[in-house]
Amino acid sequence: MNPIKEFIRFVVKCIFTIVNGICLILCHFCNKFNTCSTNIMTSKRKDYIFEPFKVTEVRCRGFESPRPRSGHRIACDDSNIYCFGGYNPSLPLTNIQRDNPTWTPARPLFKELWSFSIASRKWKQHRVIENMPEELASNAMCMNGRYLMIFGGTGAPFGNKCSNDVIVWRTCNEDAKLQILDVTGTRPPGQYGQAILCHDGCFYTVGGTNGFAYNCDIYRLDLRTLVWEPIFVGTGQEGEPLGRYRHEIARVGNKLYIIGGGTGEWAFELMEIPMFDFENNTWTILTPKADDIEKDTVAPLPRKCHSAVQIDSPDGPQVFVAGGSDGNSVFEDIWRLNITDLQWTLMQKTVLPHPLYFHSSAVTSSGCMYVFGGIEPKEDATSRNNILYKVWLCLPKLSEMCWEALLHFHPNLDQVDGRSLLNIGIPSHFVQRLHMQ
Ligand SMILES: *[C@@H]1O[C@H](CO)[C@@H](O)[C@H](O)[C@H]1NC(C)=O
Ligand SMILES: *[C@@H]1O[C@H](CO)[C@@H](O)[C@H](O)[C@H]1NC(C)=O
Repeated sequence: MNPIKEFIRFVVKCIFTIVNGICLILCHFCNKFNTCSTNIMTSKRKDYIFEPFKVTEVRCRGFESPRPRSGHRIACDDSNIYCFGGYNPSLPLTNIQRDNPTWTPARPLFKELWSFSIASRKWKQHRVIENMPEELASNAMCMNGRYLMIFGGTGAPFGNKCSNDVIVWRTCNEDAKLQILDVTGTRPPGQYGQAILCHDGCFYTVGGTNGFAYNCDIYRLDLRTLVWEPIFVGTGQEGEPLGRYRHEIARVGNKLYIIGGGTGEWAFELMEIPMFDFENNTWTILTPKADDIEKDTVAPLPRKCHSAVQIDSPDGPQVFVAGGSDGNSVFEDIWRLNITDLQWTLMQKTVLPHPLYFHSSAVTSSGCMYVFGGIEPKEDATSRNNILYKVWLCLPKLSEMCWEALLHFHPNLDQVDGRSLLNIGIPSHFVQRLHMQ
């Protein structure tokens, strides 16, 4: 037995013992507390086990949930997962409420903005009445503080009409209105399948396509002045990355890393990572290391339409890539890239239950990744899903585990008012996840 592994196992065991102890204490308090004691008495829930690195399906509660879709995007904060747009040409007609205003005239696109409360496990559709775009597939989306940023995207048929609007939604007061930023400067062209990020008061878009041409251009919008400017526009010279869409990005300091992506026909290497340095605005093509922990070296296969999230752990920044397709095969594997030493590691025990592409994922600040929707290839047809998966990508703080345990035993905690929750000693940052101010 490897003594280090043995030691880690021991430490983890200790942590679980402590967590279980704390959970018992919390449950004890909750039992004293009338509103939730009715629930715990009637429910015979299984023991709570914290299972990091294991992909599990999140069982949604409540009455409504988004229909199966692909080409949508999700983003999250620590309270909610937000889901925007998406596509499904093959929903049976019986499932379609004809008067549902959320369908575009070209029905397969979803004119929908949803949020999923992580604590209460309930979906909620936001009735957005202003500025909902017609471009609802392969948008890019990210969080910027309390704002949801939506960019680009295409209507149906794909490539026919592409957007270059930056659309903002204030998550905290649940506006019925999307705001289209009133920008000036050199706007990027209307495209879809871009990757975006917010950094240092600026909004960046990378790559994308209009359905015919693909690029890896970078444009920046200064969110203070709302002026767009091109940062890099490809000229086809050697050393520039190939144009692409449905790629993913990571950022560490002033360096931007591009992970995969493709064109209509191609999928790009994950063993070749174009890195853009914002200091000197130049590209370097990096070669990461394959996984050689087992006796057979394995490398991630090229892919597009995958998902990637970044966590900044005490051991440095890590990127987790899930699923995707190379045009022929669809993948269920999850890979970790250590940005510091560019080492790929295949997550042997962390696997999607089915191969999946055109899905979307997001990660909480404490390292819990959520994956929603996408296409699962079935024998004869493509089948879109509306399954929400979760997986802890690292060991979070004990308090996070306790919070999860508490919600496991008391799924109706959202019915208890905030003051009462504070009074029984639940920390306010957890209470806020149930009752947003
Ligand atoms: C830009 O910076 C990177 C380091 O991040 C360096 O490798 C590269 O050579 C620099 N390029 C130029 C043109 O200075
Ligand atoms: C990433 O690589 C760096 C440098 O080799 C190392 O110090 C760090 O522990 C690694 N992180 C993880 C999570 O393996």
